[in-house]
Amino acid sequence: MSASGDSQRLASAKDNQKSARLAVGGKDIDLPIYQGSIGPDVIDISHLYQETGCFTFDPGYTSTASCESKITYIDGEEGILLYRGYPIDQLAENGSFLETCYLLLYGELPAKSELEDFEQRVTMHTMVHEQMNRFFTGFRRDAHPMAIMVGVMGALSAFYHDSTDITDPMQREIAAIRMIAKLPTIAAMAYKYSIGQPFVYPRNDLDYASNFLHMCFAVPCDKYESDPVLAAAMDNIFILHADHEQNASTSTVRLAGSSGANPFACISAGIACLWGPAHGGANEAALRMLEEIGTVDRIPEYVKRAKDKDDPFRLMGFGHRVYKNYDPRAKIMQQNCHEVLEAVGADTDPALLVAIELERIALEDDYFVERKLYPNIDFYSGITLRALGFPTSMFTVLFALARTVGWIAQWREMIEDPDQRIGRPRQLYTGPKERPYVPVTERG
Ligand code: CMC
Repeated sequence: MSASGDSQRLASAKDNQKSARLAVGGKDIDLPIYQGSIGPDVIDISHLYQETGCFTFDPGYTSTASCESKITYIDGEEGILLYRGYPIDQLAENGSFLETCYLLLYGELPAKSELEDFEQRVTMHTMVHEQMNRFFTGFRRDAHPMAIMVGVMGALSAFYHDSTDITDPMQREIAAIRMIAKLPTIAAMAYKYSIGQPFVYPRNDLDYASNFLHMCFAVPCDKYESDPVLAAAMDNIFILHADHEQNASTSTVRLAGSSGANPFACISAGIACLWGPAHGGANEAALRMLEEIGTVDRIPEYVKRAKDKDDPFRLMGFGHRVYKNYDPRAKIMQQNCHEVLEAVGADTDPALLVAIELERIALEDDYFVERKLYPNIDFYSGITLRALGFPTSMFTVLFALARTVGWIAQWREMIEDPDQRIGRPRQLYTGPKERPYVPVTERG
């Protein structure tokens, strides 16, 4: 940390007059405590190694704040999620996804003219370089769309050389707009390629979500009009997924970016991390589970399995590292789910009936109550996305599309921090001590 960063944070610690005393190897050291605007205080251990020769040990980072941030706040105990201070339910009810993007990127809700200007800038960048079509066709026909997303996102740096210089604020801005604008086009192309249909070009007369549905579901031989109820639900789903503090993929983006890698490469790293079943892949797993359960009478059998320590089965879409209360996004998603299913005439979908009953049973069961395991956003999102017409292989792609703005906002915040340094965690080494090399002829 530079002297200026040190002095700023130490000044704030001094204001709060709080510090923690740690005794290590017969030596007492005082560690400053910093207070955020809300949320838990943090103990600054950045000089710990210098003063004591010890590292801290926190696998999974359950007690570690990896950075200072002004973007998103979660109170897991109370079930609160704020983007730049605004509650997620208020944004989802009243706002649009592009308005949310503006808020996350620039810190304030836009005035009407600012929003119109932002929407125009995004809309003017929705097309991708025509040569990218050929890049897509290099993938095997049966490639998972997430594999395509990781590759194509990284490849953007090979197509847009004028937005890879991270030291130039204008290039950072163009990269941000390009990614937000092009992600729906790329995601729709990945989908079209996987089902063997021609790519559909973006339409600038449509809003963000309607344009995305159009690129996914229109075909050249037919007229396509996206349903406003479904487009509104899609926009809502994008808002709910836009950012989520320092989760695994966001931390991946920050770590990749800390080396000075270009923004497209960093976001590609975030997409790769998101793909895992414990993170973005859970909505796919949750829907598969609901389908496997099939009927309400089989729920007790699965609840029993979820509680059995000898059985690896877990209730997918239940539990969260941070939320020890109802995930506020899950409540909105549940409502969204009912609206979409009603709009497409699938409100008797067996998966929905199983989900409603499973949620009721689990929330009354001591095992789940004691461990504070509540439905998370993924519990209802799979059913909703399927009703919107997407196959399960596209679920995580849609999550990546929406989360891109969060990743970019977090990446920019890090790059713009004058005290930013390369991320370099340490370890508790438990491997062999130094030993001499033995030539192969002398090994027993
Ligand atoms: N079903 C049954 N038991 C569970 C579940 C579950 N879904 N989740 C946690 N537990 C139990 C776990 O076995 C442990 O019990 P015990 O204390 O007796 O050993 C206790 O609850 C604490 O769980 P943990 O694994 O220590 O919690 P974690 O913070 O490491 O894991 C989690 C969080 C989300 C990975 C986990 O709850 C899980 O695997 N859930 C299912 C997958 C899922 O829905 N993931 C989506 C997360 S939200 C989307 C996102 O942010 O990307």
